[in-house]
Amino acid sequence: MALSNQHLLSLATFSLYISVSLAFFPGYTTHFMGSGFPNEAHPLTGLCPEYYQFTCPQADEIVISVLKEAISKDPRMAAPLLRLHFHDCFVQGCDASVLLDDSKYIVSEKNAVPNMNSLRGFEVIDQIKAQLEEACPNTISCADIIALAARGSTVLSGGPAWELPLGRKDSKTASLKGANANIPPPNSTIQNLITLFARQGLDQGDLAALSGSHTIGVARCVSFKQRLYNQNGDNKADQTLERSFYYSLARVCPRSGGDNNISPLDFTSPVKFDNYYYKSILVGRGLLNSDEVLLTGNEPFVVSLIKTYAEDEALFFDHFAKSMVKMGKINPLTGYNGEVRKNCRRVNGAF
Ligand code: HEM
Repeated sequence: MALSNQHLLSLATFSLYISVSLAFFPGYTTHFMGSGFPNEAHPLTGLCPEYYQFTCPQADEIVISVLKEAISKDPRMAAPLLRLHFHDCFVQGCDASVLLDDSKYIVSEKNAVPNMNSLRGFEVIDQIKAQLEEACPNTISCADIIALAARGSTVLSGGPAWELPLGRKDSKTASLKGANANIPPPNSTIQNLITLFARQGLDQGDLAALSGSHTIGVARCVSFKQRLYNQNGDNKADQTLERSFYYSLARVCPRSGGDNNISPLDFTSPVKFDNYYYKSILVGRGLLNSDEVLLTGNEPFVVSLIKTYAEDEALFFDHFAKSMVKMGKINPLTGYNGEVRKNCRRVNGAF
């Protein structure tokens, strides 16, 4: 078939666009275009939004009702539930390995450095599981419960919703080592962050968008103490910390002790999912080193997104939703792999 001049021109323009985008912002073109398989089982992961359509159509309603009650009792409960999905997916994939307790055969991820005395929300997951087991026994996996709870918590905090691919199965193993190796620490440099996200198939766009989860929730003093007192091994504060912000943090987080004192990740609106997290970074008020380096790390694409999200909340919401779907597809167990645990804390048949 012969191509008209017009066709050739648009083809040339398109390939020029792709090459320029790839040259300046690797990952940009592929990043926010979506999978192209919105309503079908994804050909690679086998997940699809209608997975429980016939077996448990009321699943999401049940999740939301438990979340509403939990968040009304404790408005800070949305944040840890969103975080659980991240800490699950970055370790052997989104397989609920993070929920397994220590047992004869399991070394729990709950004792890994990023999780111990830090991850919360396990009781809420237990409540959701109990209600789902009553309504639809042996049907909804714990890995899907985490994904549904992450979306529900985002929406109930005022953030975006997304169509959520489902059908993950639960692991029969956990990896404490994997949790220590793969979950980025709060003092990460921009290069560490990019490397650890890339290991999971996530790009710089995902890093910029998903870090926006820190629009809700808190961190313990131990997670940002280094910035206040010894950022570069010279007994000095991180110079990128805005002055008055530094003083208010120092009141909560003394040089010695107080490790478990908490501070909001987004000072302006700690329980509302919005774009103030990005606005704060722009004025030197990002709480964790890993937050502030998104700007100060001088990675042009990441910096441009941080600035854009600070201006355009709708775009942040759109990208956040897409990146959450992408994160939720990390290495799931599907089909006959894995199992649907009866109790999220234990492998079936374990005693
Ligand atoms: C980019 C790399 C990231 C780093 C280095 C990081 C690190 C941390 C740290 C250190 C805390 C505070 C923990 C504590 O002090 O006990 C925290 C809290 C939190 N993180 Fe991240 N995080 C990252 C990305 C993410 C992602 C991708 C999500 C979700 C998709 C997320 C969601 C949260 C939430 C919601 C909280 C608040 C938890 C609470 O209030 O209990 N984080 N993060």
